[in-house]
Amino acid sequence: MVRAMSDDSGARLERLSGMLKRRGFILPAFEIHGGAKGLYDFGPNGGRLRNRVNQMWLNHWISMGNVSEISCPTITPYEVLEASGHVGEFSDFMTGCLSCEEVSRADTLLEDFHPNPDSLGKLELQELLNKSSPQCPSCGEKSWSDISAQNLMFNTKIGAGTSGRDGFLRPETAQGMFTSFPVLYRHFRERLPFGAIQIGKGYRNEISPRQGMIRLREFNMAELEYFIDPEASISHDFSSWSGVKLTMIGENEGEVSTSIVDAIKGGMVRHETVGFFIARTYEFLIGVGIDPSRVRFRQHESNEMAHYATDCWDAEIHGSYGWVECVGIAHRGCYDLEAHEKYTGKSLRARREFAMPKEVVIDGWTTDSAVAGPAFRSLAGKVKLAVEELPSDTSFPLELSIEDQLVTIEQTHVKRVQRTDTLTGEWFIPHVIEPAFGIDRIIWHILDHAYDEIEKQGEKYTIMKLNPNVVPVDYVVLPLYEKDGMGEIAREINTMLNSRFGVVSSFDASGSIGRRYARADEIGVPVCITVDHQSVEDETVTIRTRDTGQQVRLKISEL
Ligand code: ATP
Ligand code: GLY
Repeated sequence: MVRAMSDDSGARLERLSGMLKRRGFILPAFEIHGGAKGLYDFGPNGGRLRNRVNQMWLNHWISMGNVSEISCPTITPYEVLEASGHVGEFSDFMTGCLSCEEVSRADTLLEDFHPNPDSLGKLELQELLNKSSPQCPSCGEKSWSDISAQNLMFNTKIGAGTSGRDGFLRPETAQGMFTSFPVLYRHFRERLPFGAIQIGKGYRNEISPRQGMIRLREFNMAELEYFIDPEASISHDFSSWSGVKLTMIGENEGEVSTSIVDAIKGGMVRHETVGFFIARTYEFLIGVGIDPSRVRFRQHESNEMAHYATDCWDAEIHGSYGWVECVGIAHRGCYDLEAHEKYTGKSLRARREFAMPKEVVIDGWTTDSAVAGPAFRSLAGKVKLAVEELPSDTSFPLELSIEDQLVTIEQTHVKRVQRTDTLTGEWFIPHVIEPAFGIDRIIWHILDHAYDEIEKQGEKYTIMKLNPNVVPVDYVVLPLYEKDGMGEIAREINTMLNSRFGVVSSFDASGSIGRRYARADEIGVPVCITVDHQSVEDETVTIRTRDTGQQVRLKISEL
């Protein structure tokens, strides 16, 4: 959810957006063709910054030791997203201005009239819209069409002509990780808990993308699906966060400043792993340069949660657009694996061993595959599962609804099963806890928080105080002049630095030295290395540090 925009951000926001465009961080895509709402480019500086944020995100989760990265297609068959509930449920409520016909998201329009309009259903939104008559953000009029639900997925056809299958561009990376559960389970030697992570594009045909990088139609998602046994005891190590206070807004508590351990002990956070991921999310955000005093965690109200979630916390970051949701941490329960299992008839279960073997009396039914296989064909697997759920006193023939088809189960299709088994374990559907990060929104806030304007000779001077972990360029090498050997020395230093693994250095010889420092400050280069006349004589250079402006002389060999 995107919260209301703060009042004082307008002019600064305009200067910041202008600079980000001019310096090739982020800019509207396809501008020479007039652009397209909700589509942005990362330019040469933004591309590098995004890559570093992504790499930090991957390292952050892989360091847990039981998390692996995978990559799944963005084009997704219809059936996958029908099974997951997205075809039926993944919508926002919209309304159109009767005067200029611009459409808007109903909850966004009503933010000034309700503390959390995202939690309202269609009828409640309609009532509030009628009562409050908000102004159209485009033309200022106040009359609106009836609210309707709009599915947010982009449709596509997979394949050509009549043999083409219906599909969508994925709205989240998560479904590929759920459908990959069997391979993940094997990979992790059939031991929970484990996680899969994925960074990639997600697509949502947002109703009214008006807030730059905050609401895109194609965006960069980074998600972890962490599979757990809901009955296993959990023990996460919280020791590194014992002194860290988080700002948290529980559904029933209001805003509190608390350690994550107290928030779990007090019951505000309902699951220890959700709490563990809240803390790790905070750690990641701070590590990429988000201002700790502008992060808070807000629990969803029960009627605000996505269709799959049983508890959900948003990490919200404050910036030029007010408080903005940047990460959603959801307890998805067994919703997704169960949904895909039911839809496909394929097992998506894990095994849990009992401490002591158990004797169980089996008294029920199964299908006779020699008869039921040819009779039910592609439905045979699902019919078998349904028959095995029937009580022992069931009589046949019996009609069952399988995948919206009515099938008749005859006595000849089934066999009675009566036996006593000794079970050493059982199969169950794992639960999933998911931190889902919106990389673009995080990058926007990294840039917003780093953007610092100071007065210099009566003008605004910009310094991007980016965390060195994510800067697009680590060093700029500046020859005072290109003549007298200074250009050659500077080029050599630049080549030497670039040959070091992971280091990005650039060479800049155009314009006065002051202008070059200003350019470096504007893209957040932490260190400038200047080569001057003295360098030619004694092989030393000047090192200038971005945040202090301090200059020291160093031997080139000591760089
Ligand atoms: P909102 O309420 O703002 O539409 P959401 O609740 O639908 O967001 P999620 O479905 O939880 O968002 O998506 C996970 C994350 O993906 C969000 O926390 C956000 O950072 C990011 N995200 C979602 N929609 C967009 C979008 N249209 N543009 C950019 N990032 C997005
Ligand atoms: N996978 C989380 C989301 O898209 O909301």
